[in-house]
Amino acid sequence: MSESITFQVQPGGSLRGEIRVPGDKSMSHRSIMLGSLANGVTHVTGFLNAEDAMSTLQAFRDMGVKIEGPVNGEVTIYGVGKHGLKQPAKPLYLGNSGTSMRLLSGLLAGQAFDTVLTGDKSLESRPMRRVTQPLAQMGAVIETQADGTAPLTIRGQNGKLNAIHYDMPIASAQVKSCLLLAGMYAEGETSVTEPAPTRDHTERMLSGFGYPVNREGSTARINNQGDLTATQIDVPSDISSAAFFLVGASIAPDSDVTLKHVGINPTRTGVIDILRLMGANIEVLNPRSVGGEPVADLRVRSSQLKGINIPEELVPLAIDEFPVLFVAAACAEGKTVLTGAKELRVKESDRIQVMADGLQVLGVDAQATEDGMIINGSPIGSGRVDSHGDHRIAMSFSIAGLRASGAITIDDCANVNTSFAEFKDLATSLGLKLSVI
Ligand code: S3P
Repeated sequence: MSESITFQVQPGGSLRGEIRVPGDKSMSHRSIMLGSLANGVTHVTGFLNAEDAMSTLQAFRDMGVKIEGPVNGEVTIYGVGKHGLKQPAKPLYLGNSGTSMRLLSGLLAGQAFDTVLTGDKSLESRPMRRVTQPLAQMGAVIETQADGTAPLTIRGQNGKLNAIHYDMPIASAQVKSCLLLAGMYAEGETSVTEPAPTRDHTERMLSGFGYPVNREGSTARINNQGDLTATQIDVPSDISSAAFFLVGASIAPDSDVTLKHVGINPTRTGVIDILRLMGANIEVLNPRSVGGEPVADLRVRSSQLKGINIPEELVPLAIDEFPVLFVAAACAEGKTVLTGAKELRVKESDRIQVMADGLQVLGVDAQATEDGMIINGSPIGSGRVDSHGDHRIAMSFSIAGLRASGAITIDDCANVNTSFAEFKDLATSLGLKLSVI
């Protein structure tokens, strides 16, 4: 990221209208990875043209895969087969993208060549042992920095990994996906058990490419006997991007927003469940299935939210939506308590601390706890907050402007481009008074 961007949102307004937010980030990453390893030509529509997904796309170009696009969300991937990747000439730079780094470390551990994975300051401070440790049990050789962070140097084992069973200590789709991708290059059956359901796009998309993955309860199994056959992928809109408007239209008076073609995979819809428990008015319209993933239009109208104790089982299903859910809690009547969400401390920023700090600047009664947050609904004031380069924090404080008493200035917003470059344009088209200053 080069230039620094500051957002400013003027207080008040309503959100009204119909939009389609950009494609799902998790699925966009996986479409490039699996399309590259497939035999044949894969066509992707709805691909997310934002920095994180582009980091994955560039990494595969650097490993010799011909990829056209994205043009209007269309990408064409000329798959090289499971063993067709080539050693990149230089380290693979993955920007801000944790998903790229964690999934690629599994996929690359079994290749016939070595690779180095690097990223920006935030990515190079995030924990990588959660993947390098189980991968080491599979015989992978990965050098990390002394504290377990990237750059990672991966010594490819040329398909000579051994399968393991891994009981994941944390509910992480990135860890699960990393090990399943490594399992495609391991002798025997690799199985991963998750302590709570996490997003299952890897399993679904592997099946879509014809690669056998067995799912039984909380365990997914894979072996090295399969092959990927090129396919068509229609990436739905990202519910994590839609979430800003689910909250915005709930908290702003006189709002009525329809979000078209949103992915509503049940491992991603915690934000809808939590908002409904808080009293939100969200309708799921026209549910349908697109390429093995459930999709619907979401209509959301203003409502008086109330504070709740957020059920812990919903945490992994809404893991990326808590920054904006904290804004919803600030606008709710009464107390909202989040527990069991320690993972938020190791996202693109420490999302518990950074949100608590910003909300306090705005006069909200928000207390960070070790594994969550306690928020007493209170009026939102005005002031200057720091997003710490975290895209979702920047967008969340923008949404807070809808109920603020004065302008909110948000520093360090350039990374909104990692997931949702169109945020400002779409949000202002609905009525948010957001500008770049
Ligand atoms: C993702 C999994 C989640 C999520 C991230 C994307 C994925 O991370 O926060 O934005 O695409 O697999 P964890 O696996 O670390 O929870």
